[in-house]
Formats: sequence, structure tokens, C-alpha cells
Amino acid sequence: MTIPRRSSFPKGFTFGAATAAYQIEGHKFGGAGSSHWDSFAATPGNVVRREDGALACDHYHRWEADLDLIRDGGFDAYRFSTSRARVMPDGRTVNPEGLDFYDRLVDGMGARGLRPFLTLYHWDLPSALADHGGWMNRDTALRFADFAEVVMARIGDRIERTATINEPWCVSWLSHYLGEQAPGLRDIRAAARAMHHVQLAHGLGVERLRGLGHDNLGIVLNFADILPFGEGQEKAVATADAINNGFFIESVSKGTYPEAALEGLEPHLPENWQDDMATISTPIDWLGVNYYSRGIVSADPDAPWPATKGHEGPLPKTQMGWEIYPEGLSNLLARMARDYVGALPIYVTENGMAWADEIVDGAVPDTERTSYIAGHFDAARDAIERGANVQGFFYWSLLDNYEWAWGYEKRFGLIHVDFETLERTPKGSYFALQAALSG
Ligand code: FCB
Repeated sequence: MTIPRRSSFPKGFTFGAATAAYQIEGHKFGGAGSSHWDSFAATPGNVVRREDGALACDHYHRWEADLDLIRDGGFDAYRFSTSRARVMPDGRTVNPEGLDFYDRLVDGMGARGLRPFLTLYHWDLPSALADHGGWMNRDTALRFADFAEVVMARIGDRIERTATINEPWCVSWLSHYLGEQAPGLRDIRAAARAMHHVQLAHGLGVERLRGLGHDNLGIVLNFADILPFGEGQEKAVATADAINNGFFIESVSKGTYPEAALEGLEPHLPENWQDDMATISTPIDWLGVNYYSRGIVSADPDAPWPATKGHEGPLPKTQMGWEIYPEGLSNLLARMARDYVGALPIYVTENGMAWADEIVDGAVPDTERTSYIAGHFDAARDAIERGANVQGFFYWSLLDNYEWAWGYEKRFGLIHVDFETLERTPKGSYFALQAALSG
């Protein structure tokens, strides 16, 4: 499949690549403090080969060459994140070296004509805050607003669009109920509190930044298209959809949590949670949508709430085992516009695939990834026709990187990284995108 050309999208459509701080920078450099990902990774059984982000792609030192690659790929914009543990190593005191790094990075984007899209928080919580309960503690949300202010005071003047938090569902449910990411808890009460506090952090962040005169503020949510396994699974679908999708988008856009989620979560939410809903729904200027796959669910009457289970689907899968289902992206973008955000600008802030890429005669022939991108670009165009105001698309990810609990095993990059030598080799998909973006 050929990637649709730039000219087949609306004029001014933004094409970019995305990364996140802990996954690429190298956490041992520049005075970054310990994060809960360091301790999660240091605990046997959590991360493949117990790998962590200490060195990662050494982007901390190689950022100029990495930005050159983004520019040379023909991209318009770069989505990056600021490490909370780098900027505030103990959760409260500013590390000037950390801010200096992001200042250089943003200037480097400007020098190359790349427009900066910032995500303030992409998962690297300072251990000092984790020690006090992390996202289970309301204080972590309050301190997020301070962090947001500090970062934006330094680089906000050059940022095109700012997202508060990346993927609250992963920060909370995946990490506190399913136990798959830091801090690796499996506790419904911890999950409910984290879900609420991460939403509150977003709202407090928007309020604070807006008050300081910043604009173009949004949030990045991850969505899965939830489908039934067999007949009569309406309740299971509604519950799974409420936990994965509804809880986050409905609270941000309407100030309510879906009934199907409250059914199990309400007893565990912090006292007087309703009083925070106005803050959580402080108006935003844009929505970021991360999309990878669909979910197929049925009821599991023997399991505790939410009493659902997932099923493997029949479609071709990526290296993550995720089904390739571009229609899901179109469905979700159209649904966001129709049911939640109306004409608000929407960006696909992440979409991409992992594959077991190898270098063959100096090149990386990843035709699967090129087809994947083609299918999902088509889906984005389809969503525009269905009425969604989609204004941009960021491929995840620029580089092969630290894929969280999967360590360095899963390769999502447009650019191959040799984790021994740290050498970068653009893959076939990088060149295919370069050609598509050239006109
Ligand atoms: C998303 C994360 C991103 C990356 C991709 C594959 O959930 O935001 O950091 O891990 O998945």
C-alpha cells in the first residue's frame, strides 16, 4: 500500500513524529531524579530483561542529529514530552539543567522549522512523589500544576500546542488495576483514586496555565474501539468502553463520569469527588487521540467488577500482538467529534506499529509498517469526511525506544536504533513517508 500524499489531506494538515522523554532521553544524564519507572524496572518480573531508561537512545546528547532526521523526513512538527523527574527531581525543586535541556531542544526545533507540540507529563513520576502514594494522592495533582507552570514559564512562548497528560487510562487503570506499568498495583481503590486524580491534574493544569495567559491547551487520551465477542454482550461492551474511553473523555468534555464506570468505581473515589468535576472540565482548545487497536470483550460473570474479559481477534497483528484495525481510528475520531468535542481541533497524537525490524544490507525493509501507516492515514481522511476536525497526525514513534514493560524489545520507530552502538538507521517507512510528505 502507498502512503496517501500530503496533497490529499486538507491544506495546512500537520504531519509529525512523536516521542516521550523517559523512552528516549537517557535518565542518568542532566540531573534527572529517580522516577517510579526506575524502581518498577528494578523489580524482577516487571520489565523484559529488567531494562530501564537510564541510557535509552541517549537523545539527551544526540538530540541535534535526531531533530535533523525529523526535518529531513519532511515533517512539520515534533511531539515531545518534558520529564517531570528531570525538571523536578524531588517532585518540587527545579533542576535548572533540566529546563536548560528543553530550552535548547525547543530552540533546535525552531532552527529547523519544526513546530513544537509539548506533552507535559508522559509517565515519569518522581519517586519522591511515588513515596507519598503517587497518583493515589491528591497532592500529586496539585503539584502537577506547579510543574506545568515551571515548564511553560521557560518554553511556553515557543510551543504550538500543549497537552497536560499523556493517556490517563494508562497512568491509572493500566498501572493501578491491571498492574502492567509503574507503579504496578492491582487494586481497585488505588485505580479509582488514580483515575480521578490524574483527571484533576489535567484540569488544574489547564486552569493554571490559562490563568497565566497560555493558550492552545489540551490533553492526550488513548482510545480503543471496543467490540463484542458474540451476541448479547451489550453490558460488557458498555462497561469496558466506559473504563477505557468514556471515563476520560466524558469528564474532560462534559464534567461527568459515565454511569457504567461509576457502578464499580464510585465507592472507591475520593470523598467529594463531584466538587472537582468543574475543574476537570475546564474548556480545552484541542484534543489529542492516541489509537493503536480494538478490544473484543465479553462478560465474565465469575470475575469481580468490571466482570469482563478480552478475546484475541482474527486480524493480522503487530509485534505487540495488537490487531491491525484502521477502521477503529476512523470510528473513534468520528465519535469524538459527534459525541464529545464537536468542531474542536483533533490531532492523532500517536499511531504506529511495532515490528521485529532488522538491518539487511544497511537498510530496514519494513513494508508492513508502510502499509500500516497508509491504512491509518486513509482512516484519518475518512474521519474528516465523517465530520471530525482532524488537523494533524503524529506517527509513534520517531525512534525505536524504551517500550516500557517491554524494554527495548518492541520496535515502533521510523528509525532503527542499535541499542549497543546507538546508531540510527532510517527504515523504509521513513523514506516512504518522506516521499508522501514531499507534495
Ligand atoms: C502508548 C504510549 C507510548 C508508547 C505507545 C506504544 O500507550 O503513550 O509511550 O508506549 O503506547
